[in-house]
Formats: sequence, C-alpha cells, structure tokens
Amino acid sequence: MLRSSWDNKEVRILVTGASGTLGSALCQILQEKHEVIRLKRADLDLSRTGEIIPVITSLVPEIIIHTAAMTDVDACEENPEEAYAVNWLGTLFLARAASTIGAIFLYISTDYVFDGEKGNYMEHDPTNPIQAYGRSKLFGEIAVRENAEKHYIIRTSWVYGPGGRNFLSRLPAFPAGSELKVVADQVNRPTYSLDLADMIGRFIALNPPWGIYHITGSGETTPHGFATAVNELFGRGFELTPVPGDQFKRPARRPRNTTLSNFALERGLGLKMPDWRDGLRRYAEWWKKSGKS
Ligand SMILES: NC(=O)c1ccc[n+]([C@@H]2O[C@H](COP(=O)([O-])OP(=O)(O)OC[C@H]3O[C@@H](n4cnc5c(N)ncnc54)[C@H](OP(=O)(O)O)[C@@H]3O)[C@@H](O)[C@H]2O)c1
Repeated sequence: MLRSSWDNKEVRILVTGASGTLGSALCQILQEKHEVIRLKRADLDLSRTGEIIPVITSLVPEIIIHTAAMTDVDACEENPEEAYAVNWLGTLFLARAASTIGAIFLYISTDYVFDGEKGNYMEHDPTNPIQAYGRSKLFGEIAVRENAEKHYIIRTSWVYGPGGRNFLSRLPAFPAGSELKVVADQVNRPTYSLDLADMIGRFIALNPPWGIYHITGSGETTPHGFATAVNELFGRGFELTPVPGDQFKRPARRPRNTTLSNFALERGLGLKMPDWRDGLRRYAEWWKKSGKS
C-alpha cells in the first residue's frame, strides 16, 4: 500500500459541479480535512470557455476535482453541440488551467465510454462509446491526458445519493405502492455518492501514480434489482414489472453491460469499495434521518 502523504495536511481543493450529486458529496466529505472551493454553474459556466482559465488561475487550488458535466444522456443526444461544449471543451480549458498553475487535475469520467458488449471493463480496455454523452466524456478524457500534466481520470457508474436527479436517486421518492416498469436487461454497479466521495478522499491522500482508475460500488445489478432492493430497504411497496430496456423509446442508446473492474484501485492501491447494497442501506438511513417517508 502507498503511504499517505496528505493525511495531516490541509489542501486547497476546488470542486466543479458543487451543486451536483457527486460534487455536493465531495464537498461534504473533503471539508472535514481540507479547504474546499465550491464552484457552481453560477460561478463559472463551463460552456463559456473564455472565462475558465482566468477564473481558475485566480483561485489557485492545489487540486481540481472536475465533476461538472452535462449528464442528461438523452439531452446530450438531442443537443450534441452543447454536450461537446461542456463535457469536452470545458474540460479541455480546465485541464490547461490546472497545468498553468501546477495543480493536480482529477476528472470524473464514465462507464459510458464503453459500448457495453463485454462488461467488467479494465482501465485500459478499448473504448467505444455508443451515444453523444459517452463520446463527449471520452473527448474530455483525451483533453485531460493531453493537457494536464498531473492527472487522474476516475471512471464511475450509476452514481446516486442525496440530492441526485437520476432515476436511482429519485426512486425512493416515488409514491408508495406505485406500479413501475423497470429495466431488467441492463447490468451495472450502482455507486453511492458518499462512498465514492469518501474513496476519492482516501485516493488522493495516497498520492497514487497518474492515470486511469475505475471506482464503482462492488457487486452488480439491474435497475429492476436496484428497485427491488429499494422496496426492501425503504419499505416503498412498489409493484415492479421487469421489462427489456428497448421498451422505452429514448433518444440515446443505453449500453447492455458497462460494469467496470476496480482493478487498479484494488490491486494497485489496496483499496476496496463497499458492496452496492451497503451503499443503498446508508442511503436509506440518510433518507429516514432527513425525515422523508
Ligand atoms: N450520475 C451517474 O450515474 C454517473 C455515472 C458515471 C459518471 N458520472 C460522471 O460523474 C460526474 C458527476 O455526476 P453527477 O451525477 O454528480 O451529475 P449531476 O448531479 O447531474 O451534476 C452535474 C453538475 O454539473 C453542473 N453543470 C452542468 N452543466 C454545467 C455548465 N455548463 N457549467 C458549469 N456546471 C455545469 C451542474 O450544475 P447545475 O446544478 O447548475 O445544473 C451540476 O452541479 C459527471 O462528470 C458525470 O459525467 C455520473
């Protein structure tokens, strides 16, 4: 295991997408030990590339964690120009800004850089995105590799948690007893936002070698399996019908199985993510504590 170099040192960390699912979790966890600069869209709109370098160089963070992205997969398909502007060019200028001030750049990427035909992808398996969102995020990865000298690319999948906007995050808020048709033929590794944020904190403290790392919850399931677990852990009493993904006509194609292997994290750094059910259990505890029903 690598030795931690920053455990007792406060570092100035800038988080983009601070209002997002992962960004807000990161701010919550990292502020316990570090100085956190929360960057929201109102502070810096990443589609306005001309503003990126002046803003970042004036804030002089030591680490930039770039979570902000256009994450609505169907909206990306319908407006690819906007997806490329934010997810590619926004990342490109941020990466250059990081290099200019000598900051470490940690880019959050996605399992959707893969086509989902194989599953259990390792960090250096060939990429082949099948929708505009995945392509724009892959362009972001390339921009990071080409422009940020000190960089990490962390790919994750199915991130959900407090304040999240996707189906997995919002599911417990559906009316109790709802009848829901849920996809049962797409497999993935759900990742609780606070587990990922906690792991990113431990990861950067280890000062690991630059490169690509996969970090997702352990185990795997389908949206239907996830919804079944939500029923058990949140007591929602949903009536669930398993359906194939192609029953929903949506602009963007969804991959069948983009599960990621956390190989470099586990074998290289000796770190292990909790099982996705443990994460969901903690989400249920948070849900009950925050007075939701
Ligand atoms: N959620 C998943 O299942 C998943 C899976 C794999 C990878 N990822 C990656 O993980 C990262 C975090 O995802 P998330 O689930 O936390 O996303 P999220 O909840 O949708 O949050 C996205 C954040 O990006 C900000 N943003 C969007 N467009 C922007 C722009 N033009 N300028 C500045 N900020 C902008 C949003 O600001 P507003 O609040 O103003 O909209 C929000 O804070 C993303 O890079 C995503 O690609 C997510």
